[in-house]
Amino acid sequence: MKFFLDTADVNEIRELVETGLVDGVTTNPSLVAQAGRRFEDVLIEICELVPGPVSAEVTDTTFEGMLAEGRHLAKVASNVVIKVPLTIEGLKACRILSREGIKVNVTLCFSPAQAILAAKVGASFVSPFIGRLDDVGEAGMTLIYEIVEIYRNYPEFTTEILAASIRHPIHVVDSARAGAHVVTMPPKVLRQLYNHPLTDKGLSAFLNDWKKTGQKILAR
Ligand code: E4P
Repeated sequence: MKFFLDTADVNEIRELVETGLVDGVTTNPSLVAQAGRRFEDVLIEICELVPGPVSAEVTDTTFEGMLAEGRHLAKVASNVVIKVPLTIEGLKACRILSREGIKVNVTLCFSPAQAILAAKVGASFVSPFIGRLDDVGEAGMTLIYEIVEIYRNYPEFTTEILAASIRHPIHVVDSARAGAHVVTMPPKVLRQLYNHPLTDKGLSAFLNDWKKTGQKILAR
């Protein structure tokens, strides 16, 4: 399973790349706005830090506009993946960009029917938004299970399921259980994955007992 970071904060990415756990990055216009910097500058820096796929989202809503923006952003770095919304125009653009050899992440997927369309137009990734479905009282994780089940029926579907809108570690664990290929998570959630109170308690007890022995492992 691949871990992507869902952020446009270069400092956070730089720090977490050191863990060896970051396989890629996803950004969106809201995350770029939070970063408060020029999009392309941020994108170049992220692509240098992370060799894996880095999603950059188009903001035009027309087929022609998305094609133009997608082709432009794809030239920024070889690991840029173009993010398009799951609309008729977006999927038309996905089909063409994919045929040109540009990887596309179809974002804002909220139903299994939409995920079938994304696979049929050759998307490299489809991003079902779990947290936003939970927010409106739907079981977001059910969508991941449904897409995994559907894609398994059709070996010609090569689209990777990228679980998005992740809010907490249980979303990551459940996405893994469902068989999502990738989970994109905010930096905070990646850090939370390490935590368990019994780890802290156990370590503290071991260190206290070790101190009582008066020994040092590297003592000469
Ligand atoms: C995915 O690529 C999106 O950037 C992201 O996961 C959206 O998450 P949110 O619902 O927390 O904004």
